[in-house]
Amino acid sequence: MPDKTPRKKILVIHGPNLNMLGTREPHIYGHASLDEINAGLQARGDQLGFEVKTFQSNHEGVIVDKIQQAMGNCHGIIINPAAYTHTSVAIRDALAMLDVPVVEIHLSNIRKREPFRHQSMIADIVAARIAGFGSFGYMLALDGLAKMI
Ligand code: DQA
Repeated sequence: MPDKTPRKKILVIHGPNLNMLGTREPHIYGHASLDEINAGLQARGDQLGFEVKTFQSNHEGVIVDKIQQAMGNCHGIIINPAAYTHTSVAIRDALAMLDVPVVEIHLSNIRKREPFRHQSMIADIVAARIAGFGSFGYMLALDGLAKMI
């Protein structure tokens, strides 16, 4: 008999310019496209028994809307806020409203880069952080989050 138990949901949010992965500064962000990363997350989610939804926006308010919609509708979030990591009180406030674990992920090691990238507006409100593993970091984030929830 097929298992009809609803799978727990994980939402993956990608911030601005991550739609350009693959061609965007590959020496920093690698050669994998966002579609390839998302496909890898779906496949790993299936293996782990989770429903993985992915979302990308270049717009801060749209990301805030998405986080608000996730309230009560998902069991965990993986987010790479990209440049908004360093600036967005709005995204921080939206994430702080959630009562599910949030994992912050960056392709690059932001602490090793320009000083303005050292600051993360969400570092102290997330459950865990991953940085510097390139696109593989998303897999680590998913495995870690799956263990948490
Ligand atoms: C990034 C790091 C940010 O500083 C940058 O603005 C990005 C991507 C990363 O994944 O390494 O767009 O979040």
